[in-house]
Amino acid sequence: MGLSLRRTSAITAVLLLAIGLSACSSSKTKTKTAASTPTTAAAASISATSFTSDFSAMAQLKSLAAQGKGKIGVLLPDTTTSARYVNFDAPYLAKAFQAAGLTTSDFKVDNAQGKASTMQTQAEADITEGASVLVIDALDSGSGAAIEANATSKGVKVIDYDRLVKGGTAGRVYVSFDNVSVGKLIGQGEVDCISAWNVAKPNVLVMDGDPTDNNASQFSQGYNGVLKPFFDNGSYVKVGEPAGTWTPSVAQTTFSQQYTAHPNINSVVTPNDDNANAVISYLQSKQIKAKSFPTTGQDASLSGLQNILKDYQCGTVYKPVYTEAQAAAAIALYLRAGQTAPSTLLNGTTRDTTANADVNSVLLTPVWVTAQNMASTVVKDGAVKASDLCVSAVASACSTNGIS
Ligand code: GAL
Repeated sequence: MGLSLRRTSAITAVLLLAIGLSACSSSKTKTKTAASTPTTAAAASISATSFTSDFSAMAQLKSLAAQGKGKIGVLLPDTTTSARYVNFDAPYLAKAFQAAGLTTSDFKVDNAQGKASTMQTQAEADITEGASVLVIDALDSGSGAAIEANATSKGVKVIDYDRLVKGGTAGRVYVSFDNVSVGKLIGQGEVDCISAWNVAKPNVLVMDGDPTDNNASQFSQGYNGVLKPFFDNGSYVKVGEPAGTWTPSVAQTTFSQQYTAHPNINSVVTPNDDNANAVISYLQSKQIKAKSFPTTGQDASLSGLQNILKDYQCGTVYKPVYTEAQAAAAIALYLRAGQTAPSTLLNGTTRDTTANADVNSVLLTPVWVTAQNMASTVVKDGAVKASDLCVSAVASACSTNGIS
C-alpha cells in the first residue's frame, strides 16, 4: 500500500508540474526537500525496477547528468572478501555513469583494499579534487560515519552503498538489496537442501559475516528467523554460531576448530561463497562426500557456482550488481544536480539503530540460485560465462542443467 500510494503521489506531482503548477510543492514524497527541488517528468519515471543488464535506463538521466557539477567518488571496501567489488561493482558503476553521459573525469572508483584509513585518504582526495557526491561501501560503520561527517561538513552529499553506515549523515540515501530477504533465501535454501540431501539428524553450524558490517546482522536475522522453528522443535540442532568474518581463511580456521570440537556437524549456513569455499575445501580434505553436507553462500562467485554444481553447496544468493550500480549512479546524479531522487526510485526505508532514524532506501531484489536456475539467471545475465563455469569436474553437471 505504501508503495502504490507513493507511486501515485509521484505521478500526481509530475502531472501537476507538467501543467505548470510549480507551487504545488506539498507533493507527498517521503523526502523533505522533494517539494522544493522537483524532478523532471522523464527522470521521475525511473524506478527501482528500471535497471536492466543493458543499462538502457541510464539514458533517461542524461539531462540530469548534464545539469550536475563536481566529481562522484565511489569508495569500495576490499578485493578479498568477495569477487564482486572488482568483477562487478567497479566496472558496472563506471558503465552506469557513462551510460548517463558522464566522462571518466566526472567520477572515480577506488578500492580501499580492506583498510579503513585508506578509504579515509581516498575520500579526502576525492573532496580535494572537487567531489560533490561520495558513494560509500564502508568497511565498518565507525570509519564510514567519520568519512560521511567530514564530507557533509564540506557540502559533499553522501550515499551508503550496499552496507548501511550506522550513525551516518542525516538525510543520506541507502542503496542495497533487501538484506533480510537475502538471509531468508539462505535459510530456506538450507532447509530445502537438508531435506533433498536426506540429512537425517541435522547438526547445523551457523557461520556469520563480519560483525562490523550491518549487512551481516541483517543476513543473520533472515536465516536465523527461518531456522529457529526447526531448532525450537528439535528437528535440527544448532551446534553454535561462532564469531563471524568475511575473510575466507579465518572462516576455514573457525570451521576446523568447530568441527574438531563437534565432529557431528553435518550442515553449515554461511552468507558468503568464498567463506563456503574455504569450508568445502576443508570438508573435501576430510573425504566428506558430495550431496551429504549442505552449505550455503552469497554473491554467485565462480567457485560458489562450481561448488553448487559439484553438490557441495546448496545454492547461492545472486544479487545482480548491475541493478545496484545503476540505482546508486542514478541517486548520485540526482544529488549532484542538487535534486532529490523521485519516490518511485526510493522504494523503502532502512532503520539506522545508531542514529535512531529511518534512511530513505532503494532496496533491490535478490535471487536464490541452484543448479536448476543457473542457466536462466547468472549465466543468462552474463554474470558468469558458461565457458569459465563448465570446466572439468562440473562439465557434465552443466549439460544436465542446460548450462552452455
Ligand atoms: C556484504 C555484501 C556481500 C559480500 C560481503 C563480503 O556486505 O553485501 O555481497 O560481498 O559483504 O564482502
